[in-house]
Amino acid sequence: MNSGIFKKLGIVLLAIVVVLQFFQPIKNDGSATGPNDIEQTLAVPPAVLTSLKTSCYDCHSNHTEYPWYTVIQPVGMWLQHHVNEGKGELNFSEFKTYTAKRQAHKMEEIAEMLEENEMPLSSYTLIHKNAVLNETQKAEMIAWAKLNHNLIKQNAGAQLAPASDEAAHEHSEAH
Ligand code: HEC
Repeated sequence: MNSGIFKKLGIVLLAIVVVLQFFQPIKNDGSATGPNDIEQTLAVPPAVLTSLKTSCYDCHSNHTEYPWYTVIQPVGMWLQHHVNEGKGELNFSEFKTYTAKRQAHKMEEIAEMLEENEMPLSSYTLIHKNAVLNETQKAEMIAWAKLNHNLIKQNAGAQLAPASDEAAHEHSEAH
């Protein structure tokens, strides 16, 4: 007796999905490397760079390797949302344009995200098995991020004149 309703609902849903296919999200298909990428401002050991590229660049650079099914909506829209959000927070292709303070903070966040196993996103590694970092790769990236966090802070401090109130400010700065 209710089957008529379900049938109508099914047709409506199908129509929505069909119409959605006409709205393909704008793709992140720029170049991951360039004059402002992270390598232009920080030393990145080859092993760490490889890990960044295989596990992070799809969401944190100007170039995403899209799986075939992203042509299907709303799957592609959901994925694009993650890319836009991730890239907005941290973009390795534009890292050189960040202020020293922001660079240092991002390095600290990278170590933190890895230690807490929050990155790469689990919804991503579920499908991209090769993006899972093993313990060695993780440790290498954490050590690299912590080292650079300190180096950037030291360098920025040296450039910012040795005024004593400068140092006092540093601790109160909001992240
Ligand atoms: C599938 C997409 C995706 C992948 C892959 C990914 N991230 Fe993210 N990342 C995001 C999104 C989305 C956010 C913002 C929302 C959040 O914090 O959960 C984010 C946030 C971050 C932040 C926080 C930035 C800030 O200042 O708050 C850091 C750091 C980060 N990611 C590092 C990494 C690293 C390192 C990798 C690789 C090991 C990685 N991410 C892989 C999507 C991704």
